[in-house]
Amino acid sequence: MSFLDASNMTGGYGVSDILHDCTLRVEKGQIAVIVGPNGAGKSTAMKAVFGMLKLRGGSVTLDGEDITALSPQERVRKGMGFVPQVNNVFPTMTVEENLEMGAYIREDDYRDTMEQVYELFPILREKRHQHAGELSGGQRQQVAVGRALMTKPKLLMLDEPTAGVSPIVMDELFDRIIEVARTGISILMVEQNARQALEIADTGYVLVQGANKYTDTGAALMADPEVRRTFLGG
Ligand SMILES: Nc1ncnc2c1ncn2[C@@H]1O[C@H](COP(=O)(O)OP(=O)(O)OP(=O)(O)O)[C@@H](O)[C@H]1O
Ligand SMILES: [Mg+2]
Repeated sequence: MSFLDASNMTGGYGVSDILHDCTLRVEKGQIAVIVGPNGAGKSTAMKAVFGMLKLRGGSVTLDGEDITALSPQERVRKGMGFVPQVNNVFPTMTVEENLEMGAYIREDDYRDTMEQVYELFPILREKRHQHAGELSGGQRQQVAVGRALMTKPKLLMLDEPTAGVSPIVMDELFDRIIEVARTGISILMVEQNARQALEIADTGYVLVQGANKYTDTGAALMADPEVRRTFLGG
């Protein structure tokens, strides 16, 4: 069984379903990437995995444990970290306060983890007393990822972590994400930069209208002429 196994998720907002039998799996220490057109339900699928959406069907298991009935907060305690697509930092708080907020569920000493975050993102140490709202887009995304890492998640979920950043900053952020995965943390990531993201993906999911359209290794999806033509711009 996969480390994260979100199987046959069906559900949406109110009466209409957005997700239709959507399945997402991530192995331990691997990177899974979700791509697909705007409005395909990528963020909705992430919310479903994190417990922010009530499912009409399907199940979510983490490390072999069925967590389908758990709240987002309980899922954090089980080892999920989630960086949402929008509003993922507190702009009027400093970088360090944002990281401290990330550790809110911890009762132990989190200074080691903060140190690890600063080693991963050295610019955040430099700017630790600045308000997050004053940082560049790429730096804010680092704060958001760092904040999620403060709970020492086993699965890190990122919804478009490179939105609005330059190609160079995107490459750097992807390198850091690979580094995180190498420590054994599983990554489930939604990305608009489909080609670049599939390049670092162990598994890629192409979602269309809330359903799995293609699932394969990142490399295989990149090599598939149909996927290239329809979703990767040729
Ligand atoms: N809170 C909400 N209430 C009702 N409908 C919603 C809500 N959030 C999203 N939707 C609808 O659900 C569908 C899927 O939206 P979702 O945000 O999951 O897509 P996405 O693939 O993440 O898109 P994008 O690439 O623009 O981020 C869309 O039709 C959207 O309008
Ligand atoms: Mg989205």
